[in-house]
Amino acid sequence: MPLIAQRVSYSYGQRQVLTDVSLRLDEGTIVSLLGPNGAGKTTLISLLVGLRSPSSGQVSVLVGGRSHPPAGRVSWVPQRIGIYPTLSVRENLSYAAALAGLRGRGRAAAVAGMAEKLGLEALLTATAGRISGGEQRRVHLGMGIMGRPSSALLDEPTVGADIESRAQILAMVRDLARDGTAICYTTHTISEVEELGGRIAILLGGVIRAEGSREDLATRYGMSVIELETAGIVDGAQVRTKRQISTSTPDKTLGTLIGETVGAGLTVEQVRVYQPGVASLYERIVHGNSADEVASAVPTCPAGDD
Ligand SMILES: Nc1ncnc2c1ncn2[C@@H]1O[C@H](COP(=O)(O)OP(=O)(O)OP(=O)(O)O)[C@@H](O)[C@H]1O
Ligand SMILES: [Mg+2]
Repeated sequence: MPLIAQRVSYSYGQRQVLTDVSLRLDEGTIVSLLGPNGAGKTTLISLLVGLRSPSSGQVSVLVGGRSHPPAGRVSWVPQRIGIYPTLSVRENLSYAAALAGLRGRGRAAAVAGMAEKLGLEALLTATAGRISGGEQRRVHLGMGIMGRPSSALLDEPTVGADIESRAQILAMVRDLARDGTAICYTTHTISEVEELGGRIAILLGGVIRAEGSREDLATRYGMSVIELETAGIVDGAQVRTKRQISTSTPDKTLGTLIGETVGAGLTVEQVRVYQPGVASLYERIVHGNSADEVASAVPTCPAGDD
C-alpha cells in the first residue's frame, strides 16, 4: 500500500519546520531520508505515521486505489528508544506482536522469528532495561516492525549499534522491503544508504532539496570521472597515455573520447567510469560544493583489457 505525502507543511507554534514536502513510499521500496540535524526528518515521519496532522497538504495511504488516513496503518520505529525496561525482551516483543494483532502460536512464532533475525535469541529472558544500548535498539526495532507491516518508518534505527548489529539491521530492512513493505529509513551514516540502494530524499530546512535514485542524483548533481588509457604508435614510437576527465555527461563524453582516440589511430586500452558516491552528492546538494568527489567516487563500469 503506497504511503503518500502531498505538499505537506507543518509548524510548531509560529515556527514552520516543513514546507510543501511531497514524498511517495511504494511497496517493496526503500527511501532513505537524509538531512542535517533539525532538517525536519522526525517531524515529517510523525506526519507520515499520523501522529500529527499537517497544517496544509495531505498524508494518505492508498488501499485499493482509495485514500485513507495513515493512523493505525503505518508501522513506526521512533528515533527515541521506547521499550518497557522492567519487562523481559520476550515480553516486549510479545506485547508488540499482540498490538500488531498476532495471537497464540502465530504471536510466539513471530517473536521467535524476530529474535532470530535480530540476534536476540540469547537475550529473550533478559530484563530489557538491563541489556546494552545497542541491544535495546534492536529490541526497539523488532517491536516497531512486528507483523509484516505494509509500510514502515524507521527513524535512525542504527544509532548506537555496533558493526554486527548494524549489518543485521540493514539485512532486516532489505528483507522487509523484499517482502513488500514500503520503507522510509533515516540515518546520518552515508554508507548505509549506499548499502540499502533504493531512492534517496534529501531534506534541508524543511524542504525536499533532491529526490531520486543515486544514479538519478548523480546525473543531476554529480560530476563523473572518466579514466581513459590509450596506446598506439605516434611518430614511430609506442605511446601509452592515461587521462582523467571530469564530466556531468559521462555517456556522451565517453563516446566523444573513444571517437577521438580511434580517429587518431590509437586503441583504447582501458576505460573506467567513476560515478559520484552518495557522500559527494549529499555534500554537493546540501553544501553546494563538490569536495573530494573523486575520493568518494564509486566505480560503476570497469571495462578494458585486463
Ligand atoms: N516538539 C517540538 N516543539 C517545537 N519545535 C520542535 C519540536 N520538535 C522539533 N522541533 C524543531 O523542529 C525542527 C525539526 O526537528 P526534527 O526533530 O524534525 O529534525 P530532524 O531532521 O529529525 O533532526 P535530527 O537529525 O536531529 O533527528 C528543529 O528545528 C526542532 O528544533
Ligand atoms: Mg530526527
